[in-house]
Amino acid sequence: MVLSRRSPDWRWIGIKAVAHGLALLPLALLVQGVVGDTLGADPVAAITHETGNWALRLVLLGLAMTPLRRLLGKPWPIRFRRMVGLYAFLYATLHLATYVVLDLGQYWQQILEDIVKRPYITVGFAAWLLLVPLAVTSTKGWIRRLGRRWGQLHKLVYAVGVLGVLHFIWLVKSDLREPLLYAGVLALLLGLRLWWKLRKPLAQAPMRGA
Ligand code: HEM
Repeated sequence: MVLSRRSPDWRWIGIKAVAHGLALLPLALLVQGVVGDTLGADPVAAITHETGNWALRLVLLGLAMTPLRRLLGKPWPIRFRRMVGLYAFLYATLHLATYVVLDLGQYWQQILEDIVKRPYITVGFAAWLLLVPLAVTSTKGWIRRLGRRWGQLHKLVYAVGVLGVLHFIWLVKSDLREPLLYAGVLALLLGLRLWWKLRKPLAQAPMRGA
């Protein structure tokens, strides 16, 4: 019996390597900023802002993959979905760690008080918590084990997007332009899904009297 072994798809491996490089670039720039002491007067705030922004951007990018597949009529965006989601989790975890370790420091226990008393932290923490099961179940083994329920569980990413945007809107004191831009992108991505979902049954419904 001849066992056929598939040769590696080098083009795809190259594209994925570039995508990993791009996803790690903001982190590399942050590390460079820390080492070179170029993050400004408040480096902890700079790290919190960068990691928070990248976490949210990547959540939104992950949410864009399904609409992109549908609009382009090509399957490739879906092949990036897991990678993008895991990087969103990485940046969200670094963001949380920056707050707990670098910001609160020896008062790290105060995070519990903050989660209870400061609404924007409550909402941010809820978003991070929801990302945990998504990251854990992102492997092929979990996809197989959960079957149909995997897709249902991963709909939690919609809530992560909403909570992430709310967190940002809540913490901003005056200029709402940036969080509202994220809110607009999120509304577009969720709105497209809703539109397609509502249209499908109509298109498939049998004609009256037919
Ligand atoms: C336990 C979880 C979290 C904590 C404790 C936390 C805490 C914070 C803090 C202290 C800030 C800076 C506030 C300020 O400038 O006054 C911040 C900003 C931010 N966070 Fe979070 N956050 C959490 C989770 C998240 C998650 C999951 C996301 C995204 C999905 C996120 C996205 C952002 C964004 C976009 C900003 C604003 C960055 C900017 O100012 O440009 N955060 N967060």
